Amino acid sequence: MRIGMIGLGRIGAFHARNLLTLPGVDSLVVADAAPGVAERTAERLGCEAADSADGVLRSGIDAVLIAAATDAHPQLLLAAVDAGLPTFCEKPVAASPAAAIHVRDRLAGSGVPVQIGYPRRFDPAFVAARAAVLSGELGRLTTVRSTTLDPAPPPAGYLAVSGGIFADCAIHDFDAIRWVTGREVTEVYATGSIDATAGPELFADNNDVSTAACILTMDDGTLGLVSNTRYNASGYDVRLEVHGSADSVAAGWDDGAPIRSTTPGARFPAGPPHTFFMDRLADAFTAELLTFLEVAAGRIESPCTVADALETSWVAEAATISLREHRPVALAEIRR
Ligand SMILES: NC(=O)c1ccc[n+]([C@@H]2O[C@H](COP(=O)([O-])OP(=O)(O)OC[C@H]3O[C@@H](n4cnc5c(N)ncnc54)[C@H](O)[C@@H]3O)[C@@H](O)[C@H]2O)c1
Repeated sequence: MRIGMIGLGRIGAFHARNLLTLPGVDSLVVADAAPGVAERTAERLGCEAADSADGVLRSGIDAVLIAAATDAHPQLLLAAVDAGLPTFCEKPVAASPAAAIHVRDRLAGSGVPVQIGYPRRFDPAFVAARAAVLSGELGRLTTVRSTTLDPAPPPAGYLAVSGGIFADCAIHDFDAIRWVTGREVTEVYATGSIDATAGPELFADNNDVSTAACILTMDDGTLGLVSNTRYNASGYDVRLEVHGSADSVAAGWDDGAPIRSTTPGARFPAGPPHTFFMDRLADAFTAELLTFLEVAAGRIESPCTVADALETSWVAEAATISLREHRPVALAEIRR
């Protein structure tokens, strides 16, 4: 297969390198809006550079991956699907649900498969947690705790177009809770704070926060507790605990968990700690791309459609409003 790749920042360059190792990928053509980035990436990886996103779409590819900045997703997604190309797009669909609704409505009935990138759906530990829930072995669910702690904030330019901590970071937790429990969120109560060392341009100027917590109420009464920060120097911490009336399981509670036990004599986790999403979720990203190649070949349906991803975006929107207005927000109040 000949694959196109648009956006070559942190995750785009990682996906491009990964794609070139996968069976079934014969050639790769890449583009980025920043001058020189595509040429340098192509030279480093041994693939082709195009002069623009349009150039990628017109280069005779079989499918395309979009890993450009979040605010560019809607326009690039629409262009890729209009070109009839099976498309993988990084999360979220757009920085706001309104923009995501526009994409969903424009793509309805196109028949072109689109997969939105939520890698935890491919992490072996999250897959096993979901299987435990679906098998009934945990009994009635009471509580799901989901954690995403970043070691350090992304650059100011990234944060400015990210949609905020709920649309950018907590959205992985919201999606994981929906996917693992198979239930939908009905209400969100969120709060947040800004690290004292952060310059105003990082968070305050973007109406964003650097640490956040949310309580989710699911449609069966299960409570979700979500925790996020941009300042977790001990490493990249991604974990999910599912507690039920019969049993409890934890995903991501491995030797790389970036947290120290204070219990005397405890030897777990044995380390070294996960440093970033590239190492913590390496297997998940590979499985996600292999799945997209199957989607692009028409052998399976997309495991995460725009409509599915939009449900997660509503949760992020409710959290954003809840933080701003200091009140619980029902999804029914804002969903369209
Ligand atoms: N699934 C995950 O775990 C995960 C992890 C990181 C980032 N992401 C998502 O991936 C996207 C990119 O994140 P990143 O960390 O790589 O950001 P980044 O800022 O490092 O890179 C973004 C790149 O997109 C390019 N770009 C912007 N607009 C473009 C356009 N119209 N056409 C072509 N290129 C364009 C920029 O020049 C830049 O090189 C974001 O939407 C983010 O939410 C997902």
